[in-house]
Amino acid sequence: MILGEKIYVAGHNGMVGSAIVRRLRAEGYENLVLRSSKELDLRRQTEVESFFQQERPDYVFLAAAKVGGILANNTYRAEFLYDNLMIQNNVIEAAYQNEVKN
Ligand SMILES: NC(=O)c1ccc[n+]([C@@H]2O[C@H](COP(=O)([O-])OP(=O)(O)OC[C@H]3O[C@@H](n4cnc5c(N)ncnc54)[C@H](OP(=O)(O)O)[C@@H]3O)[C@@H](O)[C@H]2O)c1
Repeated sequence: MILGEKIYVAGHNGMVGSAIVRRLRAEGYENLVLRSSKELDLRRQTEVESFFQQERPDYVFLAAAKVGGILANNTYRAEFLYDNLMIQNNVIEAAYQNEVKN
């Protein structure tokens, strides 16, 4: 990745996403686009499409997910499946449509 190109880290407040942001900044990548789930709900396709059309990131790291332990995963199986399928599908399709490099 070229320094200065725009990088969107989805899930930057989370354990994985925050580690990615720390690593990127340590390596000199400062043009980061970050949104909390309150600012951008990645389950909502039209919101995701608008965000990508407006920001046009060059690279995307997808670390956003509904994450639970074994009990929560087993108790709320449909909710976990729905949220995570929607998040991944919306982000991957919007990245493809907006010519994200990687
Ligand atoms: N933790 C590990 O050791 C580990 C290892 C390998 C893989 N993973 C995978 O990495 C991913 C992230 O795990 P994690 O441990 O970092 O989870 P986490 O700490 O719970 O963080 C998940 C992040 O996803 C965001 N998010 C959730 N729902 C969202 C939505 N509807 N719209 C936008 N953002 C949403 C949250 O944003 P807000 O904070 O803004 O609400 C949160 O910061 C998961 O797929 C997990 O399976 C984790």
